Amino acid sequence: MMEINFSPFPVLKSGRLTLREITSADVDAVFALRSDPDTMRYIPRPLAKNTEDALTLIGTFEEMLIKKECINWAITLSDNEKLLVGMICLIRIQPENFRTEVGYILHPDFRGKGIMLEAVNRIVKYAFADLKFHTLEAVIDPRNIASQKVLDAAGFIREGLFKDKVYYNGQFLDSAVYSMLNADES
Ligand SMILES: CC(C)(COP(=O)(O)OP(=O)(O)OC[C@H]1O[C@@H](n2cnc3c(N)ncnc32)[C@H](O)[C@@H]1OP(=O)(O)O)[C@@H](O)C(=O)NCCC(=O)NCCS
Repeated sequence: MMEINFSPFPVLKSGRLTLREITSADVDAVFALRSDPDTMRYIPRPLAKNTEDALTLIGTFEEMLIKKECINWAITLSDNEKLLVGMICLIRIQPENFRTEVGYILHPDFRGKGIMLEAVNRIVKYAFADLKFHTLEAVIDPRNIASQKVLDAAGFIREGLFKDKVYYNGQFLDSAVYSMLNADES
């Protein structure tokens, strides 16, 4: 079984970015992301209806972090660490399998600049080199071309397409599963 320790919270830096903990001070930015139907188009989760929903979500992040089920980072530009421009997480952590899933979301104003690729690359490095996971997974809606391109560029491989895997809002949705193996382990 692997040892996972998120205390103190791991603040991660890369070229342009600082990935830090999400707090209730980020409520407006989290609401902006989770309430936007276009941004949430391929994420089968209910839209946040008000800032109360966003606060509840941030509270859930904190609880899941304590239980080591999930860790969420605020994506910020290092010259303005206050402004959350996106979120990236390790979710569905399976220590028994040395495996976890990556998830992410970016505000529309900050897309098209390679920000999410940079964040994913940083999280992959942390997950493999520091936490010693063996495999990483990403699950996307196959219509989500932008997300697909980010995963391809980061070195994930599409391992399968599951037809009608998810039933959400009265529709069956396909899921594409990507993964990456820890190249530093033999
Ligand atoms: C997925 C996401 C994080 C990518 O953000 P990003 O870092 O800005 O990525 P980019 O905008 O640079 O897009 C990546 C690539 O996809 C391309 N792309 C973006 N939208 C596209 C579309 N609708 N159709 C085709 N290609 C598209 C871009 O041109 C870019 O191509 P390139 O690498 O050849 O230059 C962002 O689109 C997002 O937050 N989407 C909503 C939330 C979401 O779907 N999250 C993932 C759930 S698994």
